[in-house]
Amino acid sequence: MTVNKVRSVKVRSSELGNRKIVMLTAYDFPFARILDEAGVDIVLVGDSLGNVALGYKNTLPVTMEEMIVHTRAVARGVKRALIVADMPFGSYQESDEKAVANAIKLVKAGAEAVKIEGAGYISAIKKIIKAGIPVMGHVGFTPQSVNLLGYRMQGRGMGDGVRILREAKLLEKSGCFAVVLELLPEQLSLKITKALKIPTIGIGAGKKVDGQVLVTNDLLGLYENPPSFVKAKANLRQVALQAIKSFISE
Ligand code: KIV
Repeated sequence: MTVNKVRSVKVRSSELGNRKIVMLTAYDFPFARILDEAGVDIVLVGDSLGNVALGYKNTLPVTMEEMIVHTRAVARGVKRALIVADMPFGSYQESDEKAVANAIKLVKAGAEAVKIEGAGYISAIKKIIKAGIPVMGHVGFTPQSVNLLGYRMQGRGMGDGVRILREAKLLEKSGCFAVVLELLPEQLSLKITKALKIPTIGIGAGKKVDGQVLVTNDLLGLYENPPSFVKAKANLRQVALQAIKSFISE
């Protein structure tokens, strides 16, 4: 999978054949192998790594070093899908030069594109793209701003919706190849999707988007408290518990 194929999803003769983009998270080699074999388009080494795999309260403590180790592990497992790695909190805010240097580190670890939250660091985004690294945008609820936003649906008020639409357009204009819409009302996601030429990939943002992304652990029922918008397709936590209990009793 390539950035150009992802971008083509909105074109009539899309190489994805009119279907939606599928993006799922992975943080290690075995799950990267499974996602790639199953046929997902984009494997996201999300900074959800923090809460999902490292036991942090949220994504804020995640470091570049942690992202690099997990991006390397994922890259070893993926043969076909596009690998996107999150720029963690603190890796792009200090200076554009530091942002470019950190994006390059993620590419050296195996990422083919990086994702940056919000539209507050447009000059850093442009410089990363200038360095030859594709950037995926992310608007709506941006987990790195949880202390400011609270964990809740964004874009409910008129003004808020207009602002988020403006941010998505700005990210497109800056050269992002796709944009994640997180925790938005479906009507706003639809409006943004119609307004953009680049694909939108939603999470808790309704069905009227160009693709969907989920945290794999939520989809597989590995997490005790998944968000309410997730329809888990398995209960791997239960399967693992049963298997381990059965081993103990044997
Ligand atoms: O870190 C992550 O997993 C993400 C997705 C929720 C989009 O950013």
